[in-house]
Amino acid sequence: MRYSFLETVTLAALAGLSSAQELSSTIVGTFGDIGLARIDTAIEELSWVRGNSITDDEGERRITSSFYLGTPFGLDRGDTRACAAFFHQSTARFPGDHVDTAQGSCAQASVDSACIDALVTRARDLRIEDGEDACEKLQEDFLGNLDRECRGLAGTDRWESVRVRPIFGPGAPDVILSSDNLTSNCWPIEPKEHDLAFIESHEVTTRNLTAERANDLFYNVTPILTVFYGAENGLTANFLSQMTCLKVVNSSVALEAILEEQREEEEGAAPAIHVSGATAAITGVVTVLSLLLLAGSFLARRSRRHHTYYVAVPGSPVLKQQRQNALGPWSATARSAVWWLGDEVAFLGRNWGQRGELIFGSLWAVWLLSLCVIGTGNDYLHLTKRFGIVAVSQLPIQYVLALKKFNPVAFIFRSSHEGVNRWHRVLGRVIYYLMCLHAAFYLNYFYQTGILGRRIIDIVPALGLTAFTGMVLLNTTALSIIRRYSYRIFFVSHLIVALALPPVLFFHHRSSTFYVVEALALFIIDLALRKTDTFTTDASLVPIPGSNLIKIVAPVPPRKISRFRESPGTHIYLSIPASSRPSPSAVSAAHYIFEFMFNPFTIASVDQHSTDLTLIARCRNGPMTQNLTRLANGSTAGTKVTLSIEGPYGCAARFPNFTGPQFDQILLVAGGVGASFVLPIYRFIMSEKPGAGVTMVWAVRSASDATWLPEDASRSILEDEKVQLYLTGDILESMSGTGTLGGGDTELEMDHLSQRQHKYSPDRNRRRPDLRKIVDDIFKHGVEERVAVLVCGPEGMAHELRRYVGTWVRKGRKVWWHNESFSW
Ligand SMILES: Cc1cc2nc3c(=O)[nH]c(=O)nc-3n(C[C@H](O)[C@H](O)[C@H](O)COP(=O)(O)OP(=O)(O)OC[C@H]3O[C@@H](n4cnc5c(N)ncnc54)[C@H](O)[C@@H]3O)c2cc1C
Ligand SMILES: NC(=O)c1ccc[n+]([C@@H]2O[C@H](COP(=O)([O-])OP(=O)(O)OC[C@H]3O[C@@H](n4cnc5c(N)ncnc54)[C@H](OP(=O)(O)O)[C@@H]3O)[C@@H](O)[C@H]2O)c1
Repeated sequence: MRYSFLETVTLAALAGLSSAQELSSTIVGTFGDIGLARIDTAIEELSWVRGNSITDDEGERRITSSFYLGTPFGLDRGDTRACAAFFHQSTARFPGDHVDTAQGSCAQASVDSACIDALVTRARDLRIEDGEDACEKLQEDFLGNLDRECRGLAGTDRWESVRVRPIFGPGAPDVILSSDNLTSNCWPIEPKEHDLAFIESHEVTTRNLTAERANDLFYNVTPILTVFYGAENGLTANFLSQMTCLKVVNSSVALEAILEEQREEEEGAAPAIHVSGATAAITGVVTVLSLLLLAGSFLARRSRRHHTYYVAVPGSPVLKQQRQNALGPWSATARSAVWWLGDEVAFLGRNWGQRGELIFGSLWAVWLLSLCVIGTGNDYLHLTKRFGIVAVSQLPIQYVLALKKFNPVAFIFRSSHEGVNRWHRVLGRVIYYLMCLHAAFYLNYFYQTGILGRRIIDIVPALGLTAFTGMVLLNTTALSIIRRYSYRIFFVSHLIVALALPPVLFFHHRSSTFYVVEALALFIIDLALRKTDTFTTDASLVPIPGSNLIKIVAPVPPRKISRFRESPGTHIYLSIPASSRPSPSAVSAAHYIFEFMFNPFTIASVDQHSTDLTLIARCRNGPMTQNLTRLANGSTAGTKVTLSIEGPYGCAARFPNFTGPQFDQILLVAGGVGASFVLPIYRFIMSEKPGAGVTMVWAVRSASDATWLPEDASRSILEDEKVQLYLTGDILESMSGTGTLGGGDTELEMDHLSQRQHKYSPDRNRRRPDLRKIVDDIFKHGVEERVAVLVCGPEGMAHELRRYVGTWVRKGRKVWWHNESFSW
């Protein structure tokens, strides 16, 4: 016989600092306090958990105690049969003045060992094979016979309230899987992966409403005799018994004492981190840092503005001196490191993004993973939930990073939607992997416990699975192979999942409310702002003869025009309103698809005398440019086409002042229609500072690709020595024109271009610009000169240029670099 007395173990500590409310939401009632005690048997780690609640009703106070059996995760009970006898309303009481926090062993609670022996003898004599009623029979036996040795414990000459419940075997309740408790972050048992089964509930009422009486009833001790009957294929071959004295403890007082003890023990060791606290702390730090950055950049800008006239342009000797001072080599190394971080990483024939994105993304992933793990011990379900919670905690920042109009991150870091969107992709992957872990761990758990089929159709797991499926869809359609196949599939699924994810997550896990509401609110505000900033205009669409380019001239409302003039190199999002769509039927897919089409085009020029802006669109295979071609070919001279325009956008609005003292040389490189970005910047610099050290290189496949220039710019650009034009296609073919339309003006321009081509290229037929030579010539110009390099063209051109410029960066040269690209 075993009836070693177990101390009542303080629940507050072992229940993992779980709050009583969290427990209540999914088990039963509302528990004011809880208690936990280990059942000390050799068989398995079993525990008793008790939760007490108190309610007042019309002058009556009701105290309800609920008792749960804690068993190891997925415990195989075999043929084990066991009963638990609850001796309610006994005289057992732990010594001490503070009934709420008192704890101890059954011996300390004045439970006589002779009484326990007598009770165990009765239990041992039970014919357990009597089926479901066996434990009930033991109850009858106890109630009908109060052993002499137990009179003290009963307090009267008969047991007032003894209940015997089956805990293993016929009639025993099923475990409440901790997965049922998905809305709670905590599970009132230690280790956390243990299961709980609801065994017994007991209620006492009193009309004595004094606090003292309530305390006595609330914090009373219940002796529980747990008896296991031996079975060949069970947890134990022999009869075993255990008396446990269980009460709840005042969690706030006990918790403080335990934490104090822990603090002393750990002596500064890292405390267990409660994830929401940690996340809140990080959010706080990030917010404060962001505000500081914001304030700093604002002050810096202000002071720069105020000092513009007093900054002396540092000449070569000054720069040389700067380079040679103590910090010189360090700043050169720092520049080189920043450049290295900005390099694209190609692996297995795929571009994985910039090195910095991969490094910082990995570091952030490691940090998030550590938040998932810290404090979860060996608790499988706790860890599983953490993956989900940490993933969801990243949603607000993930949504912020995707915003176009109202993007605080872009504003703080003086970047653009395109700039911060890179980080959106990085964080998206991290969130996705965390959600994969969350789903995989849960599915594994359901599978291992044999409840997969049942659980995945329950509402909470089903919503989780829905959210996860959405994430899989979102990440799959974002793969470049799908995006390139159909940008619409990517765009529409992204939009639907982005809008649906927050509500689904909200119902899946209520405590994610803060994150999902924040994310959705930001997203909707941004959409609303974008909608209000979109204007519809009557544009003229003209095909450029001999090319597949379309020139779009669209008047801008006068109140908006200054924003378009301010920043050369910005772009707009073009959409097609209902009246300009190919299918007039509002219900046809061909019509509706345009609701999801917002394509970016660079503002090639803004007319100085009117409010017209010009866009140059290369006709490709997609629905937008195909429709633009249809509209352009279908419209006769003077006919207007209704288009919707939203913008301007782009980091060109945050570029440094190229006409100031910051740069000595500026290299602008364009490939094909990429000149729509480069040319406005070139023209702006020339208009502000005609003597600036600028070189513009423009490679076009055919002469007609360069004939879209505004009339005033056309001649001057072609005659400008600072502009190097390269015709890379067959010149004769170019001159004959490949497009469907032709005209006198075009031929004139082609003629002019061919003369220029001759001037720059000895090979009349085909020649790309020698980017290495161009770069070297500029950097050799002055060893101390600071160079800005901007490129907009095919990916290969930008990569090549970056490689050549990188050589000079590694030599310590100061370079400001920008690659405007629309492929990712
Ligand atoms: C900032 C920027 C400026 C651009 N400026 C010009 C320009 O001046 N002239 C020009 O001819 N082309 C420009 N482009 C490219 C142009 O947007 C695409 O060629 C055009 O949208 C293709 O439309 P489509 O109907 O043929 O194909 P779609 O199937 O609609 O799109 C094809 C590709 O265009 C890009 N794209 C489409 N919509 C978006 C969007 N909402 N956001 C980001 N990328 C998108 C994607 O890479 C996509 O794979 C620019 C792209 C970007 C990102
Ligand atoms: N704001 C923006 O983001 C924006 C706007 C518009 C365009 N773009 C970019 O511009 C690109 C051009 O579009 P497009 O269709 O007009 O191009 P295109 O007709 O293919 O013309 C590109 C020109 O660049 C040359 N070229 C390509 N790679 C080169 C290299 N490594 N070195 C030197 N010259 C090189 C080509 O020469 P070959 O004939 O020998 O190939 C060709 O003359 C797009 O891919 C896009 O990335 C960006």
